[in-house]
Amino acid sequence: MPNLYNVTKDPQDVGKFRTPGLRKVLRISPWFHNGLFDNIEGVMNMYNNGMPQPKQKPDELNDPLFPKTDVHIKRLNLTKAERDAIISFLAAITTEPWRITTPELPQ
Ligand code: HEM
Repeated sequence: MPNLYNVTKDPQDVGKFRTPGLRKVLRISPWFHNGLFDNIEGVMNMYNNGMPQPKQKPDELNDPLFPKTDVHIKRLNLTKAERDAIISFLAAITTEPWRITTPELPQ
């Protein structure tokens, strides 16, 4: 899993991932570092529900590497129309694929 902890080995860094740019986002599924979603409604629902809140089992209570969801991540309670509006925004910033042609080298 390419998260910051793998580089620093600091337990505080478990679950920290680079925040990706979203330009062309609708063309690059599956999404997230682990390809968790291949449908954008699923991504939107996950954010709307406040992301996963993993619960520690008794034998994990003292595990410093147990991933915790940040306190700032909260349920959004967006309506279907609001979620669709965000998906439309993501579509608006998704560019068409383009091909860069190599310039001709001088003889
Ligand atoms: C409704 C609001 C949001 C939407 C629609 C959204 C959308 C997305 C999407 C589509 C991805 C996948 C990108 C990819 O696979 O290249 C993503 C990844 C990510 N987003 Fe968001 N995002 C939202 C809010 C946030 C917020 C508030 C944060 C940080 C505080 C955040 C941090 C991240 C990070 C770190 C990733 C990479 C996670 C991973 O690779 O597993 N996002 N987001």
